[in-house]
Amino acid sequence: MAGNQITSFIFINFVLGQAHSADYIYSAVMPQTVTALTGSCVQIPCTFSISNFEDKRKRAKSIYGIWLKNQSQYASKDSFIAFNSSENIIRGFKDIKMTGDLNERNCTTVFYNIMMNHSDRYYFRLEIEPVVFRATLDPNTADSSKTVKIIVRDSPQPPELKPSEPQYVMEESTVNLSCSAEAPCPTQPPNISWSNIPESASITTQLQDKPDKTQSVFSYMTFKASYTDHKKKITCTATYPRNMPNDSTVEGNIMLRVLFPPKETCIIITPSVGTNVTLTCKSKASPSNDLKYTWYKRGQETPIAWKKKINLTKTQTASYFCTAQNKHGKQSSEDVQLTDEGEFTQFKCKAQGHL
Ligand SMILES: *[C@@H]1O[C@H](CO)[C@@H](O)[C@H](O)[C@H]1NC(C)=O
Ligand SMILES: *[C@@H]1O[C@H](CO)[C@@H](O)[C@H](O)[C@H]1NC(C)=O
Ligand SMILES: *[C@@H]1O[C@H](CO)[C@@H](O)[C@H](O)[C@H]1NC(C)=O
Ligand SMILES: *[C@@H]1O[C@H](CO)[C@@H](O)[C@H](O)[C@H]1NC(C)=O
Repeated sequence: MAGNQITSFIFINFVLGQAHSADYIYSAVMPQTVTALTGSCVQIPCTFSISNFEDKRKRAKSIYGIWLKNQSQYASKDSFIAFNSSENIIRGFKDIKMTGDLNERNCTTVFYNIMMNHSDRYYFRLEIEPVVFRATLDPNTADSSKTVKIIVRDSPQPPELKPSEPQYVMEESTVNLSCSAEAPCPTQPPNISWSNIPESASITTQLQDKPDKTQSVFSYMTFKASYTDHKKKITCTATYPRNMPNDSTVEGNIMLRVLFPPKETCIIITPSVGTNVTLTCKSKASPSNDLKYTWYKRGQETPIAWKKKINLTKTQTASYFCTAQNKHGKQSSEDVQLTDEGEFTQFKCKAQGHL
């Protein structure tokens, strides 16, 4: 009992003593999590800061970076030292390279040939020798909360397409789409391609840093919305090269919704038995649910009908046309003419199959 009290007392003093000393400042900046792909590499962007670093560096002979897997306590019997830059000691991995320069407070590290069992939390430890400074970043102390969790996946995440919601855009307006795919291994970034590309589209693709310094390939597409793009499903495909028989391909989609006044308004003529014919007013518009059709006899101001289809008998010799209207505008069809002989002279709709 007495022994325990003394231990606690010493322990508290030890911690406070260190916390109050400027010497104890030791922190690092690295992403909280990175998602790696099996068979590929993963880069951990990392920078650290310790108090009086320049001074310590001058007094030291060498400076080592160490990555501990799972255990933050370096001395723990369970501690797994995955990497020690001093003699390039690598355990449990095929290869690890510290690409950052420790003298510049850069602890950026690349882990190669990732396997499922590499999923874990990793702690960075710095050793400035001989015995100038040694500490592992401990997530339980307030000022050194940074460790990195490597999440390993067998297949990549689908790329992120923005905007993610179906967008309603006016015809002729400019549309910007972006597609981003994580590039955990910057030397093997995913390749991004698009399909169903609108005619006026221009595309730029680049590798970009995210706020946590991990990288993604971003592809931007800009185009002017045309009514022919309405309901077009644009696909962004990311292909990840990796050291496996097959590359991995993932994709994201977006459905375009272009708003436009009636287009391609025309009349479909359906001859029927006897002396009757049916005229159907056909039009493309968006939205189309509020489409209003109006029929006119050429030379007569007042409409003859307010509906999509009209029936005529072949004795009603005249020219007829229809108009289609939604909230964005109105369009007239060309005339069809019912002649004395009872025949229509013009068939205006090109594709007659689809009503
Ligand atoms: C890293 O390697 C150096 C040199 O071999 C050694 O002195 C040091 O103890 C090692 N650090 C760890 C945490 O294993
Ligand atoms: C993961 O598995 C491989 C192959 O089974 C093994 O060689 C390696 O040491 C393991 N790595 C870790 C960190 O457990
Ligand atoms: C750290 O080193 C990596 C690898 O050399 C480099 O890409 C990165 O820009 C460096 N970071 C800083 C903050 O200098
Ligand atoms: C022709 O149309 C008229 C009026 O719309 C209708 O009364 C008549 O039954 C139709 N005749 C045939 C053969 O469909």
